Amino acid sequence: MTIALIRPTTDLYDSWAAAVAEFGGGHIDGSGLQAPVIPGRVTLDQLIADAARLADTSIAPPEDRVHNDLYWIVDDAEVIGFLSFRHDLNEWLREAGGHIGYAVRESRRRQGYASKALALALDRAREIGLDRVLVTCDDDNVASARTIEGAGGVLQDVSDQTERGHALLRRYWITL
Ligand SMILES: CC(C)(COP(=O)(O)OP(=O)(O)OC[C@H]1O[C@@H](n2cnc3c(N)ncnc32)[C@H](O)[C@@H]1OP(=O)(O)O)[C@@H](O)C(=O)NCCC(=O)NCCS
Repeated sequence: MTIALIRPTTDLYDSWAAAVAEFGGGHIDGSGLQAPVIPGRVTLDQLIADAARLADTSIAPPEDRVHNDLYWIVDDAEVIGFLSFRHDLNEWLREAGGHIGYAVRESRRRQGYASKALALALDRAREIGLDRVLVTCDDDNVASARTIEGAGGVLQDVSDQTERGHALLRRYWITL
């Protein structure tokens, strides 16, 4: 496995589109895409432009956003999944979204990719000077909870986030 986090690029368009298609048009955590997702060249060009702007810490982000590194989880030249690393927490992120969101395409699950990708994102968080990160998942998302716990996540609480589109949400802090 030669897993890496890379910035979105048109070079891997076909693999990105195939990965996105595997999610069937629904929301994809950490992908930077809004459902219903229609993979296409225009979508990817827009994604790349938006990602570059949000990653640029010399430009203030829009009022309701924070600086963000949008990554693709890749193994060789295959897009395996998606990961978004938010540098800061706004009110919504503090309550529900957390610093890091991710998803792995179905055909590549249970092979350690999410765990590896999260470890790489934690390196990035250390690099920008954070000393802890908030990572959340739905209470019934066993796979994500195990991923977070495997990275050293300590459960803060299980909170009712019905108003934010989640039923019960597990909120973990990972000390860096
Ligand atoms: C959550 C998700 C990213 C995990 O990806 P993955 O690459 O399969 O995860 P890993 O292979 O690194 O496994 C991480 C841990 O979860 C466990 N796990 C993975 N899938 C599991 C499942 N379906 N049931 C139970 N445990 C599971 C693994 O055994 C491993 O635990 P261990 O280290 O204690 O053995 C993936 O299931 C996914 O994309 N789900 C949909 C999107 C999503 O829920 N994103 C997270 C939002 S918070």
